[in-house]
Amino acid sequence: MQKFIDEISQAKSLAELESARLALLGKKGVITEGFSKLKELNGDEKKALAESLNKARDEANELLASKKAELEEKEANEALIKDGVDVSLFNEPSLRGAMHPVMATMDKIIDYFVAQNFSVETGPLIEDDFHNFEALNLPKYHPARDMQDTFYLRDFRLLRTHTSPVQIRTMQAKKPPIRMIAPGAVFRRDLDLTHTPMFHQIEGLVVEEGDKISFANLKDILQNFLVYMFGDVKVRFRPSFFPFTEPSTEVDISCIFCKGCGCRVCKQTGWLEVLGSGIVDENVFKAVGYSGVSGYAFGLGVERLAMLLHRIPDLRSLFEGDLRLLEQFR
Ligand code: DAH
Repeated sequence: MQKFIDEISQAKSLAELESARLALLGKKGVITEGFSKLKELNGDEKKALAESLNKARDEANELLASKKAELEEKEANEALIKDGVDVSLFNEPSLRGAMHPVMATMDKIIDYFVAQNFSVETGPLIEDDFHNFEALNLPKYHPARDMQDTFYLRDFRLLRTHTSPVQIRTMQAKKPPIRMIAPGAVFRRDLDLTHTPMFHQIEGLVVEEGDKISFANLKDILQNFLVYMFGDVKVRFRPSFFPFTEPSTEVDISCIFCKGCGCRVCKQTGWLEVLGSGIVDENVFKAVGYSGVSGYAFGLGVERLAMLLHRIPDLRSLFEGDLRLLEQFR
């Protein structure tokens, strides 16, 4: 009997304890078999054996229960240690992301125009000749096409060179009044210090029935927009040429680096060019089947504004994916 008691108290695992239990109390266990021998006995003999068997069974059960509790706790503790997670392992915070300055600038510009009731429109990056050029008063072989070096696909479609085709698509899909901006990527065969083959523009277009829209409306919105972007700057509208607007202007702000005194960045002129704009050319309205309407349009380069806003000296640094740049915009 003592042998079995020892087996129980020396069990090192729940499995060992279970086999010790079976050896005593299982179907073929010594105590169970002892009980089955009772029927062969009589009188005092039977009584004495029954008593000692009962006692042994009770003792064994008590010992089994306390040993079981002890082993369960031991195994649970071992599992905690084995499967545990060391919550103190990472004592340095993980790297946080940051908004890229180009996208942050884009959002800032969009916020302004959305607050002025402009809708946000999109168009495909792969365009056809009609939407990118023809409908914008840039007929085939027109010399002004050279202003934008184009990536062509084999089927004569092209990567849009500006966001202006979204003007055309929006006018084809809707009736005036139209009040829209179109942010997005554009592509040109250009790569040097100040040009990358992909960059971002935001186009703007406002069209109303009749002759409600004048140059004054254009001046007003762009003047206020540029003060919103750059704070206390002077804004200048300089006559220029775009095929899709007549008259056309390029818009300059007083140089934010030298406050207009003349420096290297503004090439001593005191002015920085920031966007193109004008009164929508009649031929553009004709191309989309509009008549008796008036409108203004503008287009700006997002990278250029981001560089001015954050005084980023090299355009290419915006596309290198160097985390040290982003870390400065967290
Ligand atoms: N599409 C012109 C460009 O990429 C920018 C532009 C100029 C857009 C004048 C306009 C505009 O809508 O009126 O250079």
